[in-house]
Amino acid sequence: MNALLSPGSVTRPAQASVAALSAEGLGKAFGPITVLSDITLDIHPGEVHAIIGENGAGKSTLMKLLSGHISPTAGQLFLNGRPVAFRNAVEAEAAGIVLVHQEILLAADLTVAENLFLGREIGRGLMVNDRLMNRRAAELLARVGSSARPRDGRDLPLAQRQLVQIARALLDERKVVILDEPTAVLANDEVAALLDIVRALRDQGWRFSTFRIGSTKCRRSRIASPCCATAA
Ligand SMILES: Nc1ncnc2c1ncn2[C@@H]1O[C@H](COP(=O)(O)OP(=O)(O)O)[C@@H](O)[C@H]1O
Ligand SMILES: [Mg+2]
Repeated sequence: MNALLSPGSVTRPAQASVAALSAEGLGKAFGPITVLSDITLDIHPGEVHAIIGENGAGKSTLMKLLSGHISPTAGQLFLNGRPVAFRNAVEAEAAGIVLVHQEILLAADLTVAENLFLGREIGRGLMVNDRLMNRRAAELLARVGSSARPRDGRDLPLAQRQLVQIARALLDERKVVILDEPTAVLANDEVAALLDIVRALRDQGWRFSTFRIGSTKCRRSRIASPCCATAA
């Protein structure tokens, strides 16, 4: 068994508020291989969590379970205290939970603004309102501290592409934002800027994030062992 995030590894302090998103006894097996078992965690309003584990520990798998990209083989998710089973990521996004993937998933041939609004273009009827989308894109990019411009294209540096992905996650005022190793492609000053953004998002009521080990400079209020930590 390869259950590297071990049973009971996340502590559950008494909380007055209902968790926005909870997992109870969550597990995932791919065929005969159990990757995660008995994961229990609560994500409350205003919290920033960090999940820490070595390569292959199951961090991305957990993020995908929480965001509807894959389904658990054991356990239960709760949304605002109610049992929920997302059939796919679209359902999870509709419920306010969005995952920013570890991999850069932007279309190389589109501009920054086009990528930001892909599938959610602003317009009336068949007409796309480029001017409005570019203006809204500039606002979002400023919000995540990106120096990218709405009309930038395929030559955008990797770190900026990551920030564009994060900006895309902020589009519909998501309630729970999950970042899978967002700092992996960022330079030190960009990591600092991103942590500032995460703190600002937390203060706006957003809830969840993961970082590469060594980059978890957020003040921690909850620590779990052996390889999974939460921070706020
Ligand atoms: N779709 C899949 N099918 C089979 N095994 C998988 C699949 N996705 C992930 N795994 C396995 O699950 C384990 C955890 O992977 P992952 O969640 O990507 O780890 P981490 O993000 O912590 O590096 C790895 O051993 C990986 O090979
Ligand atoms: Mg991963």
